[in-house]
Amino acid sequence: MKIVYVKDYDALSEAGASILLEHIKAKPSLTMGLATGGTPKGTYEKLINMSEQEKVSFEQVRTFNLDEYVGLSKEDPNSYHHYMKGMLFNHINIQSTHTFIPNGEAASIELECQDYEQRIKAEGGIDIQLLGIGNNGHIGFNEPGTDFSETTHMVELADATREANARYFNAKEDVPKQAITMGIASIMAAKEILLLISGKDKQHAFSTLIEGGIDQAFPASILKEHPRVTVIVDRDAAGQY
Ligand code: GLP
Repeated sequence: MKIVYVKDYDALSEAGASILLEHIKAKPSLTMGLATGGTPKGTYEKLINMSEQEKVSFEQVRTFNLDEYVGLSKEDPNSYHHYMKGMLFNHINIQSTHTFIPNGEAASIELECQDYEQRIKAEGGIDIQLLGIGNNGHIGFNEPGTDFSETTHMVELADATREANARYFNAKEDVPKQAITMGIASIMAAKEILLLISGKDKQHAFSTLIEGGIDQAFPASILKEHPRVTVIVDRDAAGQY
């Protein structure tokens, strides 16, 4: 893992966006894996501004999102479909047929998971996967204990995750109990991975990633086995490091 230390969230967002932009310049038909949550918001904002300034087109870019809540409609303000449109897709010239997010309202969630995995393969796999990290080490919605061999599947969300995400909902009870997520094996199949870690809340997650061994109890630890991972961490999250 290559670790890049930056001073704050703004610098982290700029560094993240620069890496993504360089990849699109090098390969205009790039397939990007995207993440939601608070952490990548700044990266998307910078990506929109930088691509405008540098006249970089998303015309041929494909995107696959990591996850989506089960049971929320695409229009629900808390769905990741809604998040992605607001944070990125509505502001760039990406084709709507090129953006993929699991459908949390599918009649058969099992079929949806299989189809999603197939679609990633049909598009040639993910060139670069953007990731955030949960306090408990989850990536996507792969909670502690998830088998590393899992591909896209449905998960029961950990209480800690529902609590952490309750800030976006009216009440914790409104946070869905299930989600569809790309599995650890789907994430590890990406050719390159970019993990963003920001804020004091993530100090423990960062130190566990650095100090701990590879363990299903801390899903992000598997990233140590991937040959091309860049971790961008700001001073708040890096703590003593
Ligand atoms: C969410 C998402 C993850 C995200 C993580 C951290 O539950 N499913 O993809 O990385 O939690 O979110 P945040 O960046 O808001 O701390």
